[in-house]
Amino acid sequence: MKLTANELREKYLRFFESKGHTIISGASVIPENDPTVLFTTAGMHPLVPYLLGQKHPAGTRLTDVQKCVRTGDIDAVGDPAHLTFFEMLGNWSLNDYFKKEAIAWSFEFLTKELGFKPEQINVTVFAGEEGIPRDDEAIAIWKSLGIADDHIFPSPREDNWWGPAGQTGPCGPDTEMFIDTGKEKCSEHCRPGCHCGKYIEIWNDVFMQYNKTEDGRYEPLGRHNVDTGMGVERTICMMNGYPTVFETELFTPIIAKIRELATAENLEAESRTKAERIIADHLRTSVFILGDPKQSVKPGNLGANYVLRRLIRRSVRYAKMLALKPGYCEAIAEVVIGEYRHVYPELEQNRETVLRELRDEVARFEKTLEQGEREFNKIASVMKEHGQTQISGKTAFKLYDTYGFPLEFTVELATEQGMTVDREGYEAAFNKHQELSKQNAGTFHGGLADHSEVITRMHTATHLLHAALHKVLGPTALQKGSNITAERLRFDFTWPEKMTPEQIQQVEDLVNEQIKKAVPVVKTMTTLEAAKAEGATALFTAKYGEQVSMYTIGDFSKEVCGGPHVQNTSELGGFKILKEQSSSAGVRRIKAVIGNMK
Ligand code: ALA
Repeated sequence: MKLTANELREKYLRFFESKGHTIISGASVIPENDPTVLFTTAGMHPLVPYLLGQKHPAGTRLTDVQKCVRTGDIDAVGDPAHLTFFEMLGNWSLNDYFKKEAIAWSFEFLTKELGFKPEQINVTVFAGEEGIPRDDEAIAIWKSLGIADDHIFPSPREDNWWGPAGQTGPCGPDTEMFIDTGKEKCSEHCRPGCHCGKYIEIWNDVFMQYNKTEDGRYEPLGRHNVDTGMGVERTICMMNGYPTVFETELFTPIIAKIRELATAENLEAESRTKAERIIADHLRTSVFILGDPKQSVKPGNLGANYVLRRLIRRSVRYAKMLALKPGYCEAIAEVVIGEYRHVYPELEQNRETVLRELRDEVARFEKTLEQGEREFNKIASVMKEHGQTQISGKTAFKLYDTYGFPLEFTVELATEQGMTVDREGYEAAFNKHQELSKQNAGTFHGGLADHSEVITRMHTATHLLHAALHKVLGPTALQKGSNITAERLRFDFTWPEKMTPEQIQQVEDLVNEQIKKAVPVVKTMTTLEAAKAEGATALFTAKYGEQVSMYTIGDFSKEVCGGPHVQNTSELGGFKILKEQSSSAGVRRIKAVIGNMK
């Protein structure tokens, strides 16, 4: 059956209305009451208080369409089904109906309303674990509806337990619905949940009977809620038999605009397609974030602001690859606004802000890229004078690290000048850098935040914090662990008791003093033994005589570490301690943020 997104939204809401649900409005894409998440990631998110027991004014059966942003899989964008923004259709039971109705209605909607054949549908169900049994009830219901045994896949918690959306809140086992695209299995182990593209997940029914508490326990909620989520883009993609979500009418006008603006020649088809998809996805998401009624997220260096910055900057890089004509960002944003304004009028209302913020951020980033290009040209001309034609991996990595040049960029510039790039050397430099960073910072958070500018800044902030703790509490306040994400730094250190508010303030002030003083961060290569002799703090071990890098910040801090670090403390903007709490016996934990403080 052919179906547009408009028709699907309408069909879904009407169907659940006919089952006694009240249609409610979707919420802002920027969460109201949950500081632990940056964006609304699911339809249930704005409904958390009601899932926990508060009375909802519209009753106990609700349905809506919710704008969602999920950037955890940002690097997967470009494949057939991953997006950073998507619309989620949902229906909820607030301690009203439960599994039997939820599954039966999902099945009815999929087969009767959308026309999927039962044999196209595959489902996963919770396989059970200690204390929580296998979801035999869900299995029996699916079977009774006509789903064959070999289309039902019990799966462990990693796959079939949903939530909470933030760090605490309602959650529970789920049953996920996948459409079999008819492709060959990629291996004998291929099954729903495999990422080869044979099975595409389009809907999830969560049976929310648990609440995850702050100390990580799952306590019974004392209520039986249902929370479901169906992906609009994926569902219409499957219904129309398109190979990817980018062929749906939600994307074709955006991609058409990108093609119209692209002037790059001689680009391989695969790279071209990937670039088009990334630009389309990231700018669509950026338009929804900037156009949100809350108007609270702007490109910046922290939290949600940083995610937005990353989306825009990533699309700029790919736009460069396609050599999009100037003004492309606004032109593409106009298409997104035009396509969605009938469903999301806020985009039209905030049109000016959306376009202005995009324009300004692109300009800012292009300036950095230009500086990088100048640097590249300098290097290239010196090399040419010496008859060299291959850019070293180290140089390519420096361009990436300092100016945000992805490797493809450097390769492109090099090609223009008749030069090549040592790709393997680049990979090696990249991996070495990552390894050193890991050694220093315990585990670096993967995915989203690695190697970014903000991580680098937080990393330097961690050194300042460590030194400040030494000065305020004494030399026994020693680092036990460190963890950095794009949003905050976390620092564990040995200390027997709660810090006093005065001590916390002193530490914060000391760090801010160093930031205000704009102290250069100086890197020297030395041996561990020599560094220790100079009084440097060293957290990792090195073989005797091996070269290590030592970072010195004035006479305030000296640490052996793999980096990365900023060049001057002023780049941190400011420093604020959010929390000081117990981590384990004798170990305290500080959470802090950096950036320009008001
Ligand atoms: N909240 C559930 C999900 O996002 C429905 O998959």
